[in-house]
Amino acid sequence: MVLDILQLILFILPAYVANAVPVLLGGGAYLDLGKNWNDGGRIFGDGKTIRGFISGVVAGMLVGIVIAFYLPSIFFSSLRSQILGAFMLSFGTMFGDAAGSFVKRRLKIEPGKPFILDQLSFLAFALVFAAPFSLPYLFEPLSIGFLFVLTYVLHVGTNALANKLGLKKVPW
Ligand code: CTP
Ligand code: MG
Repeated sequence: MVLDILQLILFILPAYVANAVPVLLGGGAYLDLGKNWNDGGRIFGDGKTIRGFISGVVAGMLVGIVIAFYLPSIFFSSLRSQILGAFMLSFGTMFGDAAGSFVKRRLKIEPGKPFILDQLSFLAFALVFAAPFSLPYLFEPLSIGFLFVLTYVLHVGTNALANKLGLKKVPW
């Protein structure tokens, strides 16, 4: 049971890393190049940069490959699918993150303002993108449910902590 939970956390770690790294390494040109959608609002907004997107994908992939090196084939069936899986988890994370921002902008929610999709969209896309390369046991309803609950709790917890430590102005 504890082992199962540890395994799931290791499996999803590349996605968490991909999601966190752009906060530190992001900047420069915007992912939407500053362009607007046809509703007059930005496509993704100032919170999504090209460097953030690429650094997230690369960092997540590196972590995924290190995990695969130490734990061969517990998540994926072959080395090839391990590397592809690590890439898809990280790329799915950044894609889902941008998709979440796209929806927020259409709903006129400003960058940085909290929204339910902040936590759900990156995880959902990471899982959907990696699923074709992952072993089926990772996709049992209980595992998926656990990952969504864990992600939500971690998100709320880390933001509250960052607020307490004075790293963030708002506790979300
Ligand atoms: N970031 C980035 N490039 C990305 C994703 C994130 O540079 N592709 C950086 C930005 O500095 C961003 C920060 O990481 O402000 C936090 O990311 P996130 O919470 O996803 O963005 P928000 O600023 O909250 O904007 P949004 O409402 O669009 O999610
Ligand atoms: Mg945010």
